[in-house]
Amino acid sequence: MRELATGQANGKIILMGEHAVVYGEPAIALPFSAAQVTATIQSAPEDWLDSSYFSGPLTKAPTALNNLKELLHLLRHDFATGPVICRITSTIPAERGMGSSAAVAVAVTRAFLAWQQVEETPTGLLQYVNTSEKIAHGNPSGIDAAATSGTEPILFERQQPFIPFPLNLDGCLIVADTGVKGKTRDTVADVAHLMSVAPTATKQIITRLGDLTREAKTAISANQSYHLGNLMNEAQALLQQLSVSNGTLDHLVQVALNNGALGAKLTGGGRGGCMIALASDPQSAAIIANQLTAAGAQETWLQALGCRPAVSAWL
Ligand code: MEV
Repeated sequence: MRELATGQANGKIILMGEHAVVYGEPAIALPFSAAQVTATIQSAPEDWLDSSYFSGPLTKAPTALNNLKELLHLLRHDFATGPVICRITSTIPAERGMGSSAAVAVAVTRAFLAWQQVEETPTGLLQYVNTSEKIAHGNPSGIDAAATSGTEPILFERQQPFIPFPLNLDGCLIVADTGVKGKTRDTVADVAHLMSVAPTATKQIITRLGDLTREAKTAISANQSYHLGNLMNEAQALLQQLSVSNGTLDHLVQVALNNGALGAKLTGGGRGGCMIALASDPQSAAIIANQLTAAGAQETWLQALGCRPAVSAWL
């Protein structure tokens, strides 16, 4: 067993398909390397957590960290180890639709497996991460776990092997944080409620979102950024109908469109968190990002799409 071992994971951005992916439709997600988590694991006299959110004995961790507590118990049990200290440092804003909880679980599991000198397998890793995600989000599709543990864009379908998906698009994505915490657990539960009280209309929306994701995949392969923008706009209108957008997200989406975005939508769980906008080029992206900041976005990032060198940068 090693003295101290380290694990890492990145944030993620869902380009298309959030919420519909819970119901078996496809979604497209990108690793978001501008935001990352690092975890370390080491033997300790008692189980201890050290993070910016909470530092102290694991038994005293707040209920908001039950997913992490459970993950560490499970790993300790499966590998029959003594107590550990787990240190977490993260630049992924929590509860902003960037997959923070999944990324923390990926980084912690990786650190633990490395500490035990056990080779990581994708299935083994995702099993632990999905257990933790079930506690965090109730009924996760698994897309956050898949996207935060990988380094390539993916086309994801629930219960299917996910497909690395080359992005080959002339365009630039702006990611803007509303500064308001999203509540993926609540929005996923609210869509499930809509599904039970208005099944026909809700299924229609979910199916259309799935079709939009398939069309987006084709648009990306054909380098059709204008078409992709239109698909993003239609997805945002449908996500509004599912009640997972809110006034702040709608406002930032409108600001992006008014300033030349080809398309804009929320990303992730919604009702807070982040929105994304597609720009035709980096200059247009910089203008949109500045206007989003002026309109109240707490933070913005740019992510190049396509096979050119990734210029993922803080603005
Ligand atoms: C959250 O990042 C994405 C959702 O579709 C939930 C999930 O797929 O688990 C809203």
